Amino acid sequence: MKKTILVTGGTGYIGSHTAVELISRKFSVKIIDNLSNSSVDTVNTIRRITGVRPHFTKLDLCDAKALAGWFRRNRDVIAVIHFAALKSVGESEKRPLDYYRNNILSTVNLLHELNVNHISSLVFSSSCTVYGEPDSNPVTEKSSIKPAASVYGNTKRICEEIIRDAAKEFPLRAISLRYFNPVGAHSSGLIGDSPVNPSDNLLPAITQTASGKRNILNVYGNDYPTPDGTPVRDYIHVVDLAKAHVAAIERLIGKKNNTSFEVFNLGTGRGYSVFEIINAFSDCTGVRLNFKITSRRPGDMTSIWADTAQANKELGWEAGLTLDDMVRTAWAWEQNHNKKSAAE
Ligand code: NAD
Ligand code: WQD
Repeated sequence: MKKTILVTGGTGYIGSHTAVELISRKFSVKIIDNLSNSSVDTVNTIRRITGVRPHFTKLDLCDAKALAGWFRRNRDVIAVIHFAALKSVGESEKRPLDYYRNNILSTVNLLHELNVNHISSLVFSSSCTVYGEPDSNPVTEKSSIKPAASVYGNTKRICEEIIRDAAKEFPLRAISLRYFNPVGAHSSGLIGDSPVNPSDNLLPAITQTASGKRNILNVYGNDYPTPDGTPVRDYIHVVDLAKAHVAAIERLIGKKNNTSFEVFNLGTGRGYSVFEIINAFSDCTGVRLNFKITSRRPGDMTSIWADTAQANKELGWEAGLTLDDMVRTAWAWEQNHNKKSAAE
């Protein structure tokens, strides 16, 4: 019998890549998504890639009644990966209550159902944003959690605390994965980052400038105290990230966790500046980018990259894909996506 994993937010960017990896590891996948930032077409695309169509339900996790009904009808779920959330930092500052309501209420409703239905394994999507501007790099899981620089970041910090506390009420085993900067796309070129809501992340801005969707790439400041003046981040390929979720699920269902609430950083352990990413993109694709230096983006940190020793040791996982893989697959996805949109 295949083991069934519920993937909330499974038609989204990271969720869809994780669904593919779970299916390829012979898990059965059930997706819940309200499609607020993704398309139902992704379900068929996952089938195109894997040969298996995941079970899909359009449902808002904030709707407690509908969620309870779903769990009553789907008794085979043994573990949950909770991706569903609103994720735009800028938007969260303009719509704080929507972000608190969506991200926190959905998590509380989900935890309630886990308790009622005796499901004890949960993997949660957290973010390096909980560390704020670190005192030193690389950051370990023991580095201090700083007051969040955004409402979005605060929802991640609060949800981690709620999950930690929920494990006192019922026998929950949870892993919070703190992603650094997820980028890139599946090697098929069929799934990638295609938010319905506008995104202000660097890689989509680069590929959309290269494809002509944007006139120019704004580089948000070159006066940071870094080697080339632009901020440094730990970019990680989304397929590496997806594989870490499979490792986390296997750890939980194999009861190999050390404590009821574990946290792991997911990055490559290496930082790249904005200029290094732009150059890597141009070197890999041969496309020269039109960019201009603008003022700093409010809330941006100078530098952050991960210490991944815990994830390497405990999850038996390591990021294997290179910066070249990241920019190449992001570009292939942008080009494919444009072809598809033009054909529609
Ligand atoms: P995404 O927007 O592509 O996917 C999230 C999915 O959740 C979307 O399909 C959306 O429709 C769905 N969703 C949102 N609210 C929902 C609700 N109330 N009920 C049901 N579905 C809902 O985002 P992503 O990049 O795949 O991110 C996945 C998770 O990882 C999020 O929790 C995000 O905060 C976290 N994360 C993302 C990044 C990143 O840079 N992409 C970095 C760190 C953490
Ligand atoms: C990277 C660098 C920008 C766009 C965000 C969230 C974080 C996490 C990952 C969810 C920065 C620069 C960007 C552009 C630019 N998400 N940049 N021009 O800000 O590190 O992290 O996504 O959890 O919480 O805050 O990622 O990709 O937006 O920016 O110069 O058009 O690229 O200033 O230095 P960030 P990013």
